[in-house]
Amino acid sequence: MAENKIKTIGVLTSGGDAPGMNAAIRAVVRRGLSNGLNVKGILKGYNGLLNEEIIDMSAKDVSDTIERGGTILYTARCAEFRTEEGQKRGAEICRKHGIDGLVVIGGDGSFAGAQKLANLGINTIGLPGTIDLDIACTEYTIGFDTAVNTAMEAIDKVRDTSTSHERCSIIEVMGRGAGYIALWCGIANGAEDVLVPEKYDYDEQKLINNIIESRKKGKKHHIIINAEGIGHSEAMAKRIEAATGIETRATILGHMQRGGSPTCKDRVYASMMGALAVDLLIAGKTCRVVGYRHGEFVDFDINEALAMQKGISDYQWEVCQSLSHNYDKNNK
Ligand code: ADP
Ligand code: F6P
Repeated sequence: MAENKIKTIGVLTSGGDAPGMNAAIRAVVRRGLSNGLNVKGILKGYNGLLNEEIIDMSAKDVSDTIERGGTILYTARCAEFRTEEGQKRGAEICRKHGIDGLVVIGGDGSFAGAQKLANLGINTIGLPGTIDLDIACTEYTIGFDTAVNTAMEAIDKVRDTSTSHERCSIIEVMGRGAGYIALWCGIANGAEDVLVPEKYDYDEQKLINNIIESRKKGKKHHIIINAEGIGHSEAMAKRIEAATGIETRATILGHMQRGGSPTCKDRVYASMMGALAVDLLIAGKTCRVVGYRHGEFVDFDINEALAMQKGISDYQWEVCQSLSHNYDKNNK
């Protein structure tokens, strides 16, 4: 193990918040303190770094936070940090505050910022914090488990009223350009149709035929889970109602998916990742991203992690479709 040159570490959250970020912050703070390091919290992501909104963190500052949604450090998006000048200023501010190791909790965009800081001599470690699960190097991202459970519970509720009124319901879930929340809810909620940007062929007539067929078979509701990356749920609902004669409503779940108390999995995995980030800094590592693969917490070079591609598994997609009653080949 390299000699421990790190004395003070910083931690920030950046991009969209995600349940479990507080567990990760808590782990960074407490793992750092238990190794004799000073820990500083940087408020409001890279914005707060550039505005020098930097506070000392004690073990007590993260008490009663593991069960809370959101991020106690606040988060933001920062256009200035995309510029070379902003990044240089950020590195200088880190040096001015004695921060020689920085943990950045966020998505790919936030990692790109961390990579720039690493190139400017600040040791950085990224932790995957996003409800979207859209980070290629990892099978798990902080917040996905809570968000997908929140969405699942909400969809169950919409389904009750949809059945009572014999309606078709289009439920739009978050995910930016990725369809993981939609796919998981598709399976977990037993949706009749799932639309994800990675797989959707934009053949709306096929969708309409499915709804008509399903109604003929006596299905009282028709749940369509639509990923945000496809969007336009309201307009889609109007077109479907006009084409099928079946009352169709759109529900956009929106930001409620990002809030709430994190699940056990998000608390535990985020804690493990936070601790590993500190261990990596102590070991003299920089420009790394922590991930979870094949049952292990691992780390990757940020450059390699950002170059990786991720998609929806064909098998998972095919299973999701085959479990919908519409796809009964015997047509019963
Ligand atoms: P996420 O981290 O969830 O992907 P964003 O893409 O919004 O969210 O990125 C969060 C922040 O990271 C941006 O507001 C910006 O400050 C910083 N960032 C994003 N891309 C870059 C980049 N290419 N170089 C430097 N900083 C970046
Ligand atoms: O990345 C998380 C996420 O919630 C996406 O699913 C969504 O597209 C985006 O953030 C919404 O961002 P905002 O909160 O800025 O509207």
